[in-house]
Amino acid sequence: MEVAIAFNLKKKEEDKPPDYFSEYDKKSTILAIASALRSKGHKVNLIEVNSKDILKVFSKQKIDIVFNISEGNGTIYRESEIPAILDLLSIPYTGSDPFTLALTLDKAMTKRIFRGEGIPTPNFQVFKRLNTPLNPDLKFPLIAKPNREGSAKGINVSCVVREKRELYGKVEEIFKSYRQEVLVEEFIEGRELTVGILENGSISVLPILEIDFSTCREGIERFYSWRMKEYQGDKELGLTPTFFCPARIPKKTEEKIKLFSLKAYLALGCKGLSRIDLRLSKSNVPYFLEVNPLPGLDPEESIFPMMAKAAGIDYVDLIEIILNSSLEKRCN
Ligand SMILES: Nc1ncnc2c1ncn2[C@@H]1O[C@H](COP(=O)(O)OP(=O)(O)OP(=O)(O)O)[C@@H](O)[C@H]1O
Ligand SMILES: [Mg+2]
Repeated sequence: MEVAIAFNLKKKEEDKPPDYFSEYDKKSTILAIASALRSKGHKVNLIEVNSKDILKVFSKQKIDIVFNISEGNGTIYRESEIPAILDLLSIPYTGSDPFTLALTLDKAMTKRIFRGEGIPTPNFQVFKRLNTPLNPDLKFPLIAKPNREGSAKGINVSCVVREKRELYGKVEEIFKSYRQEVLVEEFIEGRELTVGILENGSISVLPILEIDFSTCREGIERFYSWRMKEYQGDKELGLTPTFFCPARIPKKTEEKIKLFSLKAYLALGCKGLSRIDLRLSKSNVPYFLEVNPLPGLDPEESIFPMMAKAAGIDYVDLIEIILNSSLEKRCN
């Protein structure tokens, strides 16, 4: 097949904040996907989707299918940009459609769906302006985060707040830096877990992965902050979490998490693959945080390929499975 990979590349621009391009991919990731596809006999075209002429670019080429890992170009529901254009051109693509990509980019909306489905999620409130009164039912510590970012952008140690004044200071800072509503959630102490879902004929849940922050330097954050993600493995900074796949959790908890994850995946209309992040409280309640229908696919660093590997699926096969899953379009 003639496969075009649609992507945005990470870059550095001096006048932009350090996390500005965090959601974008490294060139080595794109080359790894291309090489996996070529090894399965496909002809591969690389399309960096950073120009307004992208509609012309897609319509001029012979493309059987697009392998989509594009995060878009900064519009409000940016991850939907490319799938919407491809729908317009009747070109098939991997993964979820524009509706799901827009919905899951909005964490508060996603949490409302969780609630509707009976899936536990931390209590929350959305701040659209600074003079919003704090809901007295919310219990400190709270975490304040931009409502529509990914790759832990805007999430750092100071986002976890212990009293009202600190919260309003943080909310104001997020408004200024990210120009969007702020999601304020109860902070869940406990384990960090993530669940991969992959469609390979049927929809299957990959072994759950646990990120253990206890191996990081004493005194630093025990959660997946932007710094932790960006500099993961840096011994000098002490950012050395350990991954366990499968997670070290009781069988019953594992089964419960897998069922909730599947429910979330279907309710949100995800297609092909997704990664679902949650925190397991000290009393073993899985609190679902968010859904990533475009999970990272770096063969060395990303979590999704690690979970696939634990299920016995190597990187090359994973890429082929993602490609094939989008050829059999299903209804929810
Ligand atoms: N309510 C919470 N309680 C505890 N930890 C939280 C909470 N919300 C966020 N975190 C921590 O911050 C991390 C990033 O948060 P979240 O998943 O909401 O952001 P993201 O930017 O969408 O992440 P991703 O990098 O997966 O796209 C979580 O993995 C978790 O470690
Ligand atoms: Mg996350």
